[in-house]
Amino acid sequence: PVLVVDFGAQYAQVIARRVREVHVYSEIVPHDISAEEVKAKNPAAIILSGGPKSVNEDGAPSLDERIYDLGVPILGICYGAQLLARDLGGEVVRNGVGEYGRTGIRRSLASTSTLFSSLPTEFSVWMSHFDAITQAPVGATPTSSTAVSKVASFEDAVKKIAGVQFHPEVTHSEFGKEVLSNFLFELAQVPKVWTNYSIIEEAVKEVRAQVGERKVICALSGGVDSSVAAALVHEAVGDQLTCVFVDTGLMRQGEVEAVERTFRDQFSIKLITVDASDRFFSVLRGVEDPEAKRKAIGETFIRVFEDLKPEIEDASVLVQGTLYPDVIESGTKTAAKIKSHHNVGGLPDVMSFDLVEPLRWLFKDEVRSVGSELGLPDEILWRQPFPGPGLAVRILGEVTPERAETLRKADLIVAEEIYKAGLTKTLWQSFAVLVAKVKTVGVMGDERTYDSPVILRAVTSEDAMTADWARLPYEVLESISRRIVAEVRGVNRVAYDITSKPPGTIEWE
Ligand code: XMP
Repeated sequence: PVLVVDFGAQYAQVIARRVREVHVYSEIVPHDISAEEVKAKNPAAIILSGGPKSVNEDGAPSLDERIYDLGVPILGICYGAQLLARDLGGEVVRNGVGEYGRTGIRRSLASTSTLFSSLPTEFSVWMSHFDAITQAPVGATPTSSTAVSKVASFEDAVKKIAGVQFHPEVTHSEFGKEVLSNFLFELAQVPKVWTNYSIIEEAVKEVRAQVGERKVICALSGGVDSSVAAALVHEAVGDQLTCVFVDTGLMRQGEVEAVERTFRDQFSIKLITVDASDRFFSVLRGVEDPEAKRKAIGETFIRVFEDLKPEIEDASVLVQGTLYPDVIESGTKTAAKIKSHHNVGGLPDVMSFDLVEPLRWLFKDEVRSVGSELGLPDEILWRQPFPGPGLAVRILGEVTPERAETLRKADLIVAEEIYKAGLTKTLWQSFAVLVAKVKTVGVMGDERTYDSPVILRAVTSEDAMTADWARLPYEVLESISRRIVAEVRGVNRVAYDITSKPPGTIEWE
């Protein structure tokens, strides 16, 4: 493997991901790993990550120096580069000028560089550092500089050691991927043998080790993450896994059936489907306020799980579909727990579980390819994100079974037309909102109508933090509008939401 040594939470994961992207198997290890442990793993290369500290600070994380003598090629990134400089006879100082964000870098004309081979003389990279390397390690030559840093990178072709002050792993760095590939395949000569299969194999091994003989429970939501997590855990521990799917009555058309078909029929996973729709509709009666809806739904999820207790009592491990971005966002292991807890829709506090999170090192696209490899169908893998409270937050006004059914029909038309136009995968989300508390006048077949409008919402986004309204072709807008008004009773008007986020949010409530 390629070992990525972790000097500070988020960097290591992103580096490992970039290494995986070029199909090289990588493993993240803590910085206090010993030379013996490294040797036992027989790594093809080592990458030292960035970190939040200063190498000259007391208590700054360091590396077992005997690792430098193993003859394994090493790339240091940011903090990692400074550590190499400090440990191998160079110099790192605090000169009072840091570099943050986009920074122009210039290759040194006096030296050749394997990492920058075929790259232009000047390009821009992403920096985030305060200390500066003023002298490269003994035997290494500086290969680039910036306006502020004399040594923005260095290489030692003989010892196969290199350091870059910038972050080649972030997408803001021009040629970041080339720099990493050049290190792996040119300087370190790492063989290319990795496929997705290894991700699965590794995850399966890890889940088995963590779970042992214990019983595991998984709350399926119908979404991609919980589905792939369930399939992966099933691959690892088979019948020790029981899945629970709560039908809130607020799911999209066909969702319940898709889950049952996939998990019960195809995977033969023990699946408990709870039809709790009456319960959810009854707590939503008369509730109009969005947050009150969320609260009522969250609490009902807890009650439903409490009632299931006898059936899932012997389970002591809970599967969570936490992804890497959630891990970064919440920062710590403890914080991740609180958030993932919340993702399930809430489990009773009195039921305590150990968490197994087989996707915690993966990004969404990796999760999809793992799911696909495990045999999950596209209808689940390419399902757009769907809020936990379901259609309840897309019905403006009181939520009733009739209104949910109306919205489901309109929403299905949106999904069908978007699919026909080949746009499903390019949109982050596309859905219908029923403005149930408003009525507008219309005319159909010489009759006056007085019904509710449906709002069409379609957005593009990378991560739901920001979003733009999708420039849908007029013909698609047309067919959606025509079909909804013609086919869905109680709806006589369709409007398109052309608000980005911010200032709008993606959902209407
Ligand atoms: P907003 O509307 O805040 O939504 O722009 C951002 C993303 O989150 C989803 N969303 C939710 N997901 N529980 C969830 O699990 C919720 O209460 C909730 N509200 C919004 C939304 O669909 C979008 O993808």
